[in-house]
Amino acid sequence: MLSATRSSFKRAYSSAAPKTLTIGLIPGDGIGREVIPAGKQVLEALPSSYGLKFQFTDLLAGFELFKKTGVALPEDTVQALTTSCDGALFGAVSSPTTKVEGYSSPIVALRKKLGLYANVRPVKSVDGIGRPVDMVIVRENTEDLYIKEEKLYVKDGQKIAEAIKRISENATTRIGKIAMDIALQRQAVRELGGSSLHKGPILTVTHKSNVLSVSDGLFRETIKNYYTEHQDKYGSIQYTEQIVDSMVYRMFREPEIFDVVVAPNLYGDILSDGAAALVGSLGVVPSANVGDNFAIGEPCHGSAPDIEGKGISNPIATIRSAALMLEFMGYPEPAAKIYSAVDANLMEDKIKTPDLGGKSSTQEVINDIIKRF
Ligand code: NAI
Ligand code: MG
Repeated sequence: MLSATRSSFKRAYSSAAPKTLTIGLIPGDGIGREVIPAGKQVLEALPSSYGLKFQFTDLLAGFELFKKTGVALPEDTVQALTTSCDGALFGAVSSPTTKVEGYSSPIVALRKKLGLYANVRPVKSVDGIGRPVDMVIVRENTEDLYIKEEKLYVKDGQKIAEAIKRISENATTRIGKIAMDIALQRQAVRELGGSSLHKGPILTVTHKSNVLSVSDGLFRETIKNYYTEHQDKYGSIQYTEQIVDSMVYRMFREPEIFDVVVAPNLYGDILSDGAAALVGSLGVVPSANVGDNFAIGEPCHGSAPDIEGKGISNPIATIRSAALMLEFMGYPEPAAKIYSAVDANLMEDKIKTPDLGGKSSTQEVINDIIKRF
């Protein structure tokens, strides 16, 4: 599995008194409120041999909150995250499909405010479930079409909508570099004996520069140049490129060939939900929003109103997100413990939520995973 990738995240283990980490918990809406407690319980249950203790800060955000108070992301939440938390877990927020005056997604705002420029989404198959896949999608999180510079006007009596797609050299270099660091780190973990489909690190740059030669062209060229100019560090990585539509095709036909895929915001968003389909359910796919100093673990799924309140939400995406958060905070060993407990639960094929064909409740799955520590 992916491990801590940035030296700035690496923190030394203390052999003396256990270190206490403060984790902000932002359940948000819908099943976010059912799965965030899973992350909390799993962190609390980690064996004491890792020398970590956790304290949790409950924080507010979301559409429900907005409907009650007119604010989707309170300043208190941002303050707590920036001043007193070492990391955070975010559940999900509901977003209305039509524009609601004054509302915008709090996770999008948080990514911006905390400088979380990379969205990291590993997808890994466990034997016998779905397709063989062991890839991570590294999605640029701050620009592209998601800057939301849209306008609507009328020409010749017809409405026309336009949106700006912004790609900058700065943001592209940053995302290309972290993707290459992740590729090297995955290789390091492999060499330590972690299971993997790959022999060496591979980077795939996704783009559509055959059509968008200026914007996607800049994305592609910037990463390629950075790779070429830093052969001393990244020379062991096999560099490849894939036009985004053929990327989708190949990802479904032969997912096993991909290792680290780096993509602009919109393609990355779509690819990572598609990749989730390869491993059976959105309910098992984690993510982390990562910047140079902070990481927020976040399940890839949304607030799932169709299953809310039934006690059957799959907690695994959140549990793996908690592990991913720990990795980026510099604690790969307890993260690995969580991953292998989850893998063992999935392999045994007994205690599963209905999205994976089982009959178990959220809490039964949490208990089964903790039992395996
Ligand atoms: P969704 O991810 O909430 O649900 C899609 C399907 O997957 C549903 O059938 C749901 O039951 C199932 N599913 C999702 N997570 C599951 C879990 N943990 N266990 C079992 N089944 C699970 O996406 P949808 O329905 O398109 O969106 C619902 C709401 O969530 C919308 O308001 C949307 O805007 C929001 N959303 C929020 C996201 C976020 O907070 N990052 C991401 C995606 C959607
Ligand atoms: Mg999405």
